[in-house]
Amino acid sequence: MNEIEERLAEIERLGRRRRLRMVSGPQGPRILLDGQPVLLLCSNNYLGLADHPQVREAAAEAAMRLGVGAGASRLVSGTMTIHRELEQRLAAFEGSEACLLFGSGYLANLGTIGALAGPGDTIFSDELNHASIIDGCRASQAEVIVYRHLDTDHLERSLHEYGGKGRRVIVSDSVFSMDGDVAPLARIVELARSYDARTIVDEAHATGALGRGGRGAVAEAGLQGEVDVLVGTLGKALGSYGAYVCASEEMVRYLINTARPLIFSTAPSPPSVAGALAALDLLVEQPGEVSRLHAAARTLRGALAEEGFGVQTSDMHIVPLVVGDSESAMRLCEAALQRGVFAQAIRPPTVPDGTARLRLATMASHTVEELRHAAKALADAAREVGLDPATLGSRAGAKPRLARVA
Ligand SMILES: Cc1ncc(COP(=O)(O)O)c(C=O)c1O
Repeated sequence: MNEIEERLAEIERLGRRRRLRMVSGPQGPRILLDGQPVLLLCSNNYLGLADHPQVREAAAEAAMRLGVGAGASRLVSGTMTIHRELEQRLAAFEGSEACLLFGSGYLANLGTIGALAGPGDTIFSDELNHASIIDGCRASQAEVIVYRHLDTDHLERSLHEYGGKGRRVIVSDSVFSMDGDVAPLARIVELARSYDARTIVDEAHATGALGRGGRGAVAEAGLQGEVDVLVGTLGKALGSYGAYVCASEEMVRYLINTARPLIFSTAPSPPSVAGALAALDLLVEQPGEVSRLHAAARTLRGALAEEGFGVQTSDMHIVPLVVGDSESAMRLCEAALQRGVFAQAIRPPTVPDGTARLRLATMASHTVEELRHAAKALADAAREVGLDPATLGSRAGAKPRLARVA
């Protein structure tokens, strides 16, 4: 066996083999998956904007008027008027001084973290932050102190203990992508002030899904303008592709000069930007869609509870069914698929060891009947593979995986 075969065999042995499932047609609440019609219950297209007619038309019109590619980095010839237009609109939407588009959320996190921390600096990072934050921390070569999930006492002790010299940055998801819980943002901002740290908050799963008119968790907490860098994505609730940073004008000028994924990567494509502009228009015109998303989340959570799952009642649109080991999570996923419900199993390293799960995500366009059917299908699937729904609530079996990443 060569090294790649060995590595693949190891991945297989751990029950972590990944394969690409094929969706034919657009991303709606119902899709054709590998040729089979299923209810889609794991997409981040929370408001159904990815295939909305107005969003499609805007993207198509931009392709005809402006072309498909931006042709270069933002700093070479890639900044087009449509980029500036979306930046101005997003800054107004988020109540921020300035905004800067990036190619993706992954790149935005990599770029801002690397710009704000480097060798000799210290980053304080929630243990369940998204992989793009973890990679941004690693690439920055700063010292990284991982604090316990949502634990601001632990964060405070860490701030007290580490990072006397150099810059300090606290970075957190606002809505955690695999658990659907929300960071204690007010306390984080308070601690940042006390310990002279900057804050980066990733709103990837909050934009369009939380706060007044979908303005996110920072707005919901009344902290608009209080975090140093707010990262949002265009590829989730806004149904397109790309990402943005909202910050002060000075910070944006600094990022233009220092964020490597902005400097060394092609600007977002005009159709993606135009699609996001149309999606933002729809979000502003129809804030009721955010309430529909919350209603769908409550319905799913209620139906799961009725089927015996240990889920909490809340408005949060991400609902983890934590299984534990990877093989069981995969079996549950396949058994649910047999019943026409697609919720991808999420395994380590995306989630901590021993917390493989189905990560359910509702969409505003899911009907009550669909969600009730899904809850029943998931309960039947669980029993078929020998799992008790009562043990599959959020974070059941979660193990701490605290690590200090140098
Ligand atoms: C919390 C979080 N941040 C950032 C990203 C990356 O965003 P993008 O898909 O635009 O690269 C994701 C995507 O899954 C995410 O969940």
